[in-house]
Amino acid sequence: MTETFALDTIQKKLVEPATSAIPIHPQALLDLPPGEAKQSLLTVHSILEAKLPAGPLAVYEAGGGSTSFLPLGVLRRAHVTVVDIDEDQIRNNDYAQEAILGDLQTYRFPSQSFDLIICYNVIEHVPDVEAVLAGFSAALKQNGLLLIGAPNPKSLSGVVTKYSPHWFHIWFYRHIRGDKKAGLPGHAPFPTHFHPLVTLSNLEAFAAVHGLQVIYRRKYESPRYPEMRKRKPMLAALIDLAARTMNALLPGKIDMRHGDYHVMLRKL
Ligand SMILES: C[S@@+](CC[C@H](N)C(=O)[O-])C[C@H]1O[C@@H](n2cnc3c(N)ncnc32)[C@H](O)[C@@H]1O
Repeated sequence: MTETFALDTIQKKLVEPATSAIPIHPQALLDLPPGEAKQSLLTVHSILEAKLPAGPLAVYEAGGGSTSFLPLGVLRRAHVTVVDIDEDQIRNNDYAQEAILGDLQTYRFPSQSFDLIICYNVIEHVPDVEAVLAGFSAALKQNGLLLIGAPNPKSLSGVVTKYSPHWFHIWFYRHIRGDKKAGLPGHAPFPTHFHPLVTLSNLEAFAAVHGLQVIYRRKYESPRYPEMRKRKPMLAALIDLAARTMNALLPGKIDMRHGDYHVMLRKL
């Protein structure tokens, strides 16, 4: 009798966490299609959980807009300060304790304020990335982490985004991605600049001379590819073919589908 009860309890425990567990993934991760982008973000999450200090955290979301890519376990114990230049993005932000309308290039915090700075899908929009990174470096505590997610300018999607006009980005979001609100106030896409420091090798060289150690870096297939394969299979097949041809023709082991990257830096 006791044994049966114990077994029932264990079985219940095995079943219950799946249904009643506290959510751990942010909606932004759940919305990603299965693929390399999601895998890399999960790796980033496990590094954050392992490397951030226990207890309350001071987090700065630079250009945070209204979406966070941080694991919920980190967000729950964090005091989040978001800085964004767009009034609508600030108004729509519902996860930050402090929301500041400001420009990352000039807005400054007291030195050693933050355990973690996240700048996700932002540096490609900023004209002076050097000023932004200098501000981040000063605002990080020693051993603090800086997570940057950005498009890879040396990829097929990076080249197209960099050299095409903003109206084309809006058209792509509306008609290929199916985002009816694209280009409306407070909605992506935002105008891009692609400062040279957006290129991962330049960013790493800058980090090396500014006391920031690379602890994770990964270029990965842009989530636009799996998204397109589902929504527009013919177009996706053509683009896949173009990428494969470029990969075969270009010298070195380049994958032109690697449209985005994650890099995590630690302040020494
Ligand atoms: C593509 S959105 C990314 C938002 C959010 N991080 C995400 O991944 O969903 C780019 C954000 O950067 C903000 N931004 C662009 N330039 C900025 C600047 N100079 N200072 C502050 N925010 C800026 C935009 O207003 C926008 O909210």
